[in-house]
Amino acid sequence: MPEQDFTEKKNFYEDIPQRNSAFFLKGAGAYDWGMQNRLARIFNPESGKTVMLAIDHGYFQGPTTGLERIDINILPLVPYTDALFCTRGILRSVIPAATRTPTVLRATGGPSILKELSNEQLAMDLEDAVRLNTCGVGVQVFVGGEFETQTIHNMTRLVDAGYKVGLPVLGVTAVGKDMARDAKYFRLATRICAELGAQMVKTYYVPQGFETVTAGCPVPIVMAGGKKLPELEALTMAYRAVQEGAAGVDMGRNIFQSESPVAMLQAVRKVVHEAMKPELALEFFKTLISESNKPGAQA
Ligand code: 5RP
Repeated sequence: MPEQDFTEKKNFYEDIPQRNSAFFLKGAGAYDWGMQNRLARIFNPESGKTVMLAIDHGYFQGPTTGLERIDINILPLVPYTDALFCTRGILRSVIPAATRTPTVLRATGGPSILKELSNEQLAMDLEDAVRLNTCGVGVQVFVGGEFETQTIHNMTRLVDAGYKVGLPVLGVTAVGKDMARDAKYFRLATRICAELGAQMVKTYYVPQGFETVTAGCPVPIVMAGGKKLPELEALTMAYRAVQEGAAGVDMGRNIFQSESPVAMLQAVRKVVHEAMKPELALEFFKTLISESNKPGAQA
């Protein structure tokens, strides 16, 4: 039995109102505690931003260049990312369960690069996502694609399932080969994802009008990386996206196909979390490389 507490000297700070402390992330004020908490693990509560590392490419294109051996090439990057975007297959088989890095799991799939990519289905039960202690799930949405409605239904089913367990959904706007990649299209695609319940949306950067894409989307947008660019161009794209309203990035090839993935990931962090100018971030990238090449430096 605990001792009874008879003291009269309790302090209830009656003159100090209790504060509500919803996570300040865009659109997140009305979510349940668990969902806010998971979002606060993906988006750094100090900067409000995230640097996610996307390594899920194998789910439709097999062993992508740079991802042939995730255990060798990617594990050294994991401590430097705010959230790892991967498949449950890679998570279980390769990522150590002792990692402190949150994950967002790819939850749709089906067609390979040999088929019509928009013909995706749900590829994961959220019971398994919870079992894997993930912080979110990602779903490809092909607005304007052949299987547009099917992919939107994939997303809405995940959103419903996600609310039951407090898991946020990342809607990934996928662009078909022959479709225009402009602000008009991304305003449409991102807004549809958010209106239908995605708590975060991943989309590509466009040099003209990206700020209208982020402003028109009521939940945070993270910038997708796309094909490998020279480091300065990739850093510039990430810088502009964040300056124009993105809440961070979810980059893959521009990091793991870089000359030095660990240095590139740290340079992207500078741009996203500290608003470092791209030219300075490139210098930082080069400095990290030359330091790692010094005799006695850790590999
Ligand atoms: C494709 C994806 C992939 O998951 C991945 O994010 C692509 O990353 P990157 O283009 O930066 O290599 O979402 O739409």
